[in-house]
Amino acid sequence: MVSSPKGGVGKSTLCRNLLVCAAHSGKRVLGVDFDAQGTLATWARRRETLRAAIPDCLPVPVQQAELADWRAALEKARSSGADVVFFDTPPSVEVNISAILSLSAEADFLLVPCQPSQDDLDSATPWMTRLSSAGVRAAFVLNKANRRTRSFGVIRTRLLSLGHVCPVEIPALEEIAEASGKGLGVMDLSRSQSAEVFEGMWSYVAREVQL
Ligand SMILES: Nc1ncnc2c1ncn2[C@@H]1O[C@H](COP(=O)(O)OP(=O)(O)OP(=O)(O)O)[C@@H](O)[C@H]1O
Ligand SMILES: [Mg+2]
Repeated sequence: MVSSPKGGVGKSTLCRNLLVCAAHSGKRVLGVDFDAQGTLATWARRRETLRAAIPDCLPVPVQQAELADWRAALEKARSSGADVVFFDTPPSVEVNISAILSLSAEADFLLVPCQPSQDDLDSATPWMTRLSSAGVRAAFVLNKANRRTRSFGVIRTRLLSLGHVCPVEIPALEEIAEASGKGLGVMDLSRSQSAEVFEGMWSYVAREVQL
């Protein structure tokens, strides 16, 4: 599951690229889009259109669901036959706090994307504290991160003092927008310069959930 209280930090981006990595590693995948904006579901429809022309493009089905109906969505996901399921969730967790916390408790692992800024830190850190006290296994993922900047080191150190941090961070990548506009993940691009970023992240997640 991918969740953060802050909007635009990369939740849907993480979901679709990890779904694509998991599909490339031979897993049957399923995405569940709990966000009424439908970002992940729209991307998946774009992918289906592309697959009609390019059947080699691996299937990444996505179901849309309402947070209020999370139990039914969970049952549907469990009976789908998928090896791995990613839940994309809306920002503003407080609006649906009870459903989001219940869903989090069912997830094997939760990723909290965070960009290297104080604003992101102010939003992501209380959320991680709340998840930890609810016993949810979770890790921060630094997104749009540049290792060469001072802020990267400062923010990463703060995150490490509060929870687990995924050892692979995501730089700001042109390829992310290029791929997603076509219904693809960066792993699908034939000459991707950044495939190893999500490949590495998928290896980390797969090990965390013992896949
Ligand atoms: N590492 C990155 N490099 C370049 N662009 C990125 C990166 N991560 C995210 N983006 C872009 O930033 C925008 C917001 O990302 P995304 O939709 O994944 O955020 P979100 O957390 O799902 O937003 P929301 O809270 O609205 O659901 C998108 O246009 C996405 O393509
Ligand atoms: Mg989103």
